[in-house]
Amino acid sequence: MSDKNPKRYTVTAALPYANGPLHIGHIAGAYLPADIYVRYLRLTHQDVVFIGGSDEHGVAIMLRAKLEGISPQEIIDKYHELNKDTFERFGISFDMYHRTSEPIHHETSQEFFLKLHEQGEFIEQESEQYYDEEFNQFLADRYIVGTCPVCGYENAYGDQCENCGSSLNPTDLINPKSILSGKKPILKTTKHWYLPLDKYQPWLEQWLLEGKKGKWKPNVYGQCSAWLKAGLQPRAMTRDLDWGVDVPLPHTEGKKLYVWLDAPIGYISSTKQWALDHGKDWEPYWKTQPNEEDNTRLVHFIGKDNIVFHCIIFPSILHAHGEYVLPEHVPANEFLNLEGKKLSTSRNWAVWLHEYLDEFKGKEDALRYTLCTILPETKDSEFTWKDYQARNNNELVAILGNFINRTLVLTHKYFDGKVPAKGTLETIDEQVLSKIQSWPDEIANAIENFRFREAVSFLMDYARMGNKYLADTEPWKLIKTDVNRVQTILNLCLQLTANLSVLMEPFLPFSAKTLKDMINLSDPRSWEEAKDTDILKPGHLLNPPVLLFEKVEDNIVEEQIQKLHQVIPAATEAQEETPAKPDIVYEDFSKMDLRIATILEAEKMEKSNKLLKLKVDIGLDQRTVLSGIAQYFKPEELIGKQVCMVVNLAPRKMMGIESQGMILMAEDKDGSLVFVKPEKGVSDGSIIS
Ligand code: MF3
Ligand code: ZN
Repeated sequence: MSDKNPKRYTVTAALPYANGPLHIGHIAGAYLPADIYVRYLRLTHQDVVFIGGSDEHGVAIMLRAKLEGISPQEIIDKYHELNKDTFERFGISFDMYHRTSEPIHHETSQEFFLKLHEQGEFIEQESEQYYDEEFNQFLADRYIVGTCPVCGYENAYGDQCENCGSSLNPTDLINPKSILSGKKPILKTTKHWYLPLDKYQPWLEQWLLEGKKGKWKPNVYGQCSAWLKAGLQPRAMTRDLDWGVDVPLPHTEGKKLYVWLDAPIGYISSTKQWALDHGKDWEPYWKTQPNEEDNTRLVHFIGKDNIVFHCIIFPSILHAHGEYVLPEHVPANEFLNLEGKKLSTSRNWAVWLHEYLDEFKGKEDALRYTLCTILPETKDSEFTWKDYQARNNNELVAILGNFINRTLVLTHKYFDGKVPAKGTLETIDEQVLSKIQSWPDEIANAIENFRFREAVSFLMDYARMGNKYLADTEPWKLIKTDVNRVQTILNLCLQLTANLSVLMEPFLPFSAKTLKDMINLSDPRSWEEAKDTDILKPGHLLNPPVLLFEKVEDNIVEEQIQKLHQVIPAATEAQEETPAKPDIVYEDFSKMDLRIATILEAEKMEKSNKLLKLKVDIGLDQRTVLSGIAQYFKPEELIGKQVCMVVNLAPRKMMGIESQGMILMAEDKDGSLVFVKPEKGVSDGSIIS
């Protein structure tokens, strides 16, 4: 890709619902690849805008509000701020992070709807839908529960049974109940506006099935062709709801635009706001241009659950409107699993990004790097803390960091931090110089084709090459006999280092910045410079080196694994109401040995900020118990407290110490923990039953 012919790019990353914090699955699905792509395009001086924002409508928001007992507005305000800030702290470099609750978005999506309405695109149709008479409202699918006709599970939702996974219609449920009133809803007639996707099917077959064959990733193309093969049905673009964008037609009180109509239009309104803020014209970033060559390249980064909306429904809407470009690429990723299980917000089986950023200060790039090496580009993949540790220690620290550090330290030691001039080149030097000129193109090619795992592995190979060059030439030995030769070697290593500072930028922007400061290069740089074999001129003065990456110790990752397994509710904000567990019989209960115990001693565990080590008296004996409550209690507050304990839980070793039981705690809605204690003092060992 050349600097001379800049092309226009409109790059979007899915607008996350502002109803909860972000976890690593979101990041690996859409935001990290989008950010790498955009940072690379910027380095090649393309005309690129990177669009994001919060999706603030839809039932997901309303359910969250109901659960937290606050208004939808309070929910979106809270999570919009949190997520915007989290993205920024993680270096996701949106040009605009907008929100769909803004007036400019309501206007934009209403105009869109009206244009389609005036063109006669919609089918208006009445149907019968469930209605809660006590609350006087139609019920969204998720507001209806009942018995699953497939498996008999009693708490199936109107759109899906979470027990057997069947996809349902509300009217399929046996014994439907409204979650608002708890009563049986009635069927009532309502009118909606449907987008005739069936009518666009032939066009979609041509544009997508023919046009994108071999161009889109197989996982994306495959899902689209399955949808088209099954045959598309008209889909309602309006809903009976009281949260969302009003339907801009007379006599439509209580009706809103379907969230999957308004949300993708959010990309457009976000672009409009960006253009307003920067004195630009938004239209070339969205509308077709007289000369097709000048059309923007629209690229949507999403997770696989969003494919149908971005590849079929939104393009149909854009096509029906008539003035808009269509997506050039939709490089959707599959899902990321965590420590062998599916990520789950409700079970708190997740690594929350804002928590990571709080707990791992200065290690943004370690997570960016690890996630990049395991992006679920073609199939689901898995994050484990051990792998994170290994990638950090064995690759970032031992390869990339090591090469850069040795180069800089040696230059300071031998040449007072001044770039030495190179002299006569040997074959091994020529080989390195030729790699400098070809390598960036390979990385670029991988990025341009959305193969970010491959791209980041090339980056690491580049540093490997540097290490090998140092090992082969051994300047630390030559310095005694051949200073000239050492000057050449370190000159080359310094060029590699400077090239790396450019190549690293899309993947590891924080470390790239630190590195540029160390070698005294201004920011921003240009991708072309990564091929420059003379980027640092002889005599150029370097700044004192600092370590770019640091090892992650065992206890740190063990703590994170513990945290997952104990589900310490630090992020209760993100938890949904825990559903009741299935019934057990008395025998199940009676297997537990529950007793009253007194805490005799309490101390912080060394190298852990989560665990307290407690000594308790359980009447029968005294035991050691490790408890993940260090963030909630001071050791001294605990001594002498009587507590309830499971004494026959199989012992478990954490950080080298065996924990012999578990103390019962209750977790409040706000995530705080309280002990469960006897109402008045009783003797230790008293049985609880
Ligand atoms: N909020 C949706 C989700 O989290 C994504 C919306 S993408 C957009 O699944 F295009 F509709 F904005
Ligand atoms: Zn079921």
